[in-house]
Amino acid sequence: MVSISTSVGDIRLSNPVMLASGILDETSGSMKRALESGAAIAVTKSIGSSERKGYPTPVVSVIATGMLNAVGLANPGIDSFSEEFSNFPVKEKVAVSIFGKDTEEFLYLARRVEGLGFKILELNLSCPHVAGVGSEIGQDPDLVEDIIRELKSRTNLQIWAKLTPSITNIVTIAKAAEKADAYVLINTVKATGVDIYARQFLLSNKIGGYSGPGIKPIALRAVYDVRKESEKDIIGVGGINDWNDAVEFFLLGASAVQVGTGLYYRDYGIYDNINAGIARYLEDEGFSSLDDIIGLMVKS
Ligand SMILES: Cc1cc2nc3c(=O)[nH]c(=O)nc-3n(C[C@H](O)[C@H](O)[C@H](O)COP(=O)(O)O)c2cc1C
Repeated sequence: MVSISTSVGDIRLSNPVMLASGILDETSGSMKRALESGAAIAVTKSIGSSERKGYPTPVVSVIATGMLNAVGLANPGIDSFSEEFSNFPVKEKVAVSIFGKDTEEFLYLARRVEGLGFKILELNLSCPHVAGVGSEIGQDPDLVEDIIRELKSRTNLQIWAKLTPSITNIVTIAKAAEKADAYVLINTVKATGVDIYARQFLLSNKIGGYSGPGIKPIALRAVYDVRKESEKDIIGVGGINDWNDAVEFFLLGASAVQVGTGLYYRDYGIYDNINAGIARYLEDEGFSSLDDIIGLMVKS
């Protein structure tokens, strides 16, 4: 039997497929469901210091090649999150995603998350549609470096840096984030769309993030570009719907993948299907473990 276990930073995982931040993960119940359905890790919706209601509808719009969203980082805030997740049974399988406006706010949230007993923090340095946070922070190399240095020196958390593709050269930011334990590549791509008959934007915020099958080539390129410059573990995310999409990410250097929009197309069975498909591919192609193909096309 081939092995599909993998490592991300100091964490060993039984399989390489995770639930991405922001998709069907608003409650502890939906996170449990993803984990019971075969996801190795479930990433929470990004949590901030206080509650945010987000933008008015429409916040999501399905387009031919994927989805546009501008939810506006709607979240319950760290106090309500703490209440809901304080007794979560498998905290080691949860990565808590946080966003903030500066190093101080990230550090405050990180300490709260560590205090609750979680081990993994995913930094949202990449949401494309809220002013002052997300990708606005994630395009400033000095700030990214400062945030990660502080979090690594003042907490014992595993730090995953989720980067934006909406930047000229993602490698510049990856280098600034090199003290992180892993990169998460990529968040949604900054984008928009129009209803030509209503002559309105598809999203109330006008600008949003593009996800789903259409962004897979952009995500693959980000993984490839960063892998060529760094040995750090990469979690690939963007447009993964099936096992063969995931294999593309592994060959270009990702050690694990996250599935977001794919969950809308395929439902919770997607995790077991992707894991079974990866195992079948490895066996059919004569490999004994997932490790054999991670970065194979970058080394050669
Ligand atoms: C409705 C929606 C909400 C999202 N919310 C978040 C979020 O809160 N934090 C974050 O880091 N990424 C968020 N994302 C981005 C996803 O985690 C992922 O990076 C992106 O959608 C690309 O992957 P996919 O094509 O598999 O969806 C969101 C995506 C969607 C579609």
